[in-house]
Amino acid sequence: MRKLLIAGNWKMNQTASQTEAFCLEFKAKGLQGHKVDILLSPSFTSIPAMISILGDTPVHVAAQDMCYEDRGAYTAAVSAEMLVDAKCSHVLLGHSERRQYFHESDEGVNLKTKQALKYGLTPIICIGETKEQRESNIMEEVIKTQLLGALADLSNEEILKTVIAYEPVWAIGTGLTATPEQAQEVHRFIRTLLEERTDMETADQLQILYGGSAKPTNADALLSENDIDGLLIGGASLKVNDFFQMIEAGDKLNS
Ligand code: 13P
Repeated sequence: MRKLLIAGNWKMNQTASQTEAFCLEFKAKGLQGHKVDILLSPSFTSIPAMISILGDTPVHVAAQDMCYEDRGAYTAAVSAEMLVDAKCSHVLLGHSERRQYFHESDEGVNLKTKQALKYGLTPIICIGETKEQRESNIMEEVIKTQLLGALADLSNEEILKTVIAYEPVWAIGTGLTATPEQAQEVHRFIRTLLEERTDMETADQLQILYGGSAKPTNADALLSENDIDGLLIGGASLKVNDFFQMIEAGDKLNS
């Protein structure tokens, strides 16, 4: 049985002081004893504020990106070692916004995935098709290329240390959610690809998250699908009550 992961991606929102206020309110709701894993991914500048408040709770903290190199002359880049030192346990890689606005490639995501694993960070590898790609029936090809590209050269044990997030680009921040059936179909496809790439046991254990307009009103239905092992939540993770309700929806299903 795969444990559910309820993860928030704050994108470029929340200053350090806003992060502090969120975390105090969030912590007061009770963060111990949940059945699901909980994760938040703030901006680099808010990581210390988050760790100072949530560091003694089971909440995992993730960065939203990192550099593929160890250190050196890479102005503005942040290294895996810096993230580990800041007490991050996970890192988002290849988010569609990084691909779309910052020219992130599958090769780059692969280099970063290897680098994250080298430093003991769990990479959350984001993949997903655009509306045009879905409509022109190349969705499966796109997903396969992104997934296998990110995992190139990795051993089965290394792949087991990753998390995959399926985020259809047309559902991100648009209010358009994939229906649970649509999401399940792609998640099943991804698990089949993973099975071909590794083996059945490995593919069975891998967490595949769904992201794209996930909110309290659809969390339960999405999480009830067989191959949906958690949510990667943008907008709704910025609201303490909404995010907490989604954790509770997961708790009910994981109990
Ligand atoms: P929304 O939940 O705001 O659609 O964002 C999803 C997302 O991109 C999470 O990484």
